[in-house]
Amino acid sequence: MRRVVCHQWGPPEDLVIEEFADLEAGPGQAVVSVSAAGVNFVDALFVAGTYQIKVPPPFTPGSEMAGTVIATGEGVSNVEVGDRVISSLGLGAFASHVVVSANSLVPIPDSLTDTAAGALTQSYCTAWFTLTRRVPIQEGETVLVLGAGGGVGLAAIDVATSLGARVIAAASTPEKLADAVAMGAFATISYESEDLKTRARELGEGQLDVVIDPVGSLHTEAALRALGTNGRLAVIGFAAGDIPSIRTNLVLLNNRSLVGVDWGAWAMRNPDAQSKLLGEVLERIDNGELNPPPPTEYRLDEAGQVLRDLLDRRL
Ligand SMILES: NC(=O)c1ccc[n+]([C@@H]2O[C@H](COP(=O)([O-])OP(=O)(O)OC[C@H]3O[C@@H](n4cnc5c(N)ncnc54)[C@H](OP(=O)(O)O)[C@@H]3O)[C@@H](O)[C@H]2O)c1
Repeated sequence: MRRVVCHQWGPPEDLVIEEFADLEAGPGQAVVSVSAAGVNFVDALFVAGTYQIKVPPPFTPGSEMAGTVIATGEGVSNVEVGDRVISSLGLGAFASHVVVSANSLVPIPDSLTDTAAGALTQSYCTAWFTLTRRVPIQEGETVLVLGAGGGVGLAAIDVATSLGARVIAAASTPEKLADAVAMGAFATISYESEDLKTRARELGEGQLDVVIDPVGSLHTEAALRALGTNGRLAVIGFAAGDIPSIRTNLVLLNNRSLVGVDWGAWAMRNPDAQSKLLGEVLERIDNGELNPPPPTEYRLDEAGQVLRDLLDRRL
């Protein structure tokens, strides 16, 4: 059995692969043979020691995975050996095997491969939570998605279009914008070379309703200024590194709202509500309303390089 280990906070290049002894399932637990683990920006933050939750090394990163149950402990009745399952375990997924609370396991619908299932919980639950719970959108509204070619960005486009919104995608490269259009965006803004506020106002034809912001930096204020009457900006993350400071007169104008999104903490504190949320997402993937992009596959020993590519905006 193999796993990726972070021995000190720092660059992802410092991650190492180590062998470990066979896992055993304790009471209420299951051992899962991991087929695929999703790679998310937050995994790089855990490794760097810059996430809001700081985990002392050594630890194995990896916040979500899909695989097959190979052993169950005493008292487990919700899964059996051989079941295909996903788990949003927070840490530990970059491994060949994991031992988890059986209650955290969710069956994978037949329509999903393990690879697809292993890479969608965080991005799709964040997007679904945002657009149905935090800034619920109405059919016909116009939504601007920043970082539109990233994990949360692509999921937000998929979710918003499935709910009947018109999506404008903003990203840094032609490749990321093309991915956003393939996901359903009707217009694009290259926000490193075009004026984001002006273009978003033009494309929104005077009424931009919602901004999805997983990026931060100067883009946040420009996007906020583009919002029309009753516009809402969802603060999801700060992939660009800088946490913007916003003058509140910009929120007052046009009766705008700034809305925080902390799906991860909400999911941990409300496991039943999170199970319901994930069920809603999986049902819509199963019936074709949502269509997660097919993930690119990498080997376990490439984890550090993939995290580096995410940090350097290459993915
Ligand atoms: N609040 C929550 O509940 C929640 C849940 C999940 C994720 N998040 C946060 O949301 C953010 C995005 O996560 P993700 O998984 O979508 O990440 P991702 O796949 O890496 O996408 C982030 C996007 O941010 C843009 N970006 C702009 N400046 C960047 C920079 N200096 N370095 C890296 N990326 C930069 C990139 O697009 P361009 O190159 O096109 O600009 C990139 O595609 C992260 O901060 C994550 O921690 C929050």
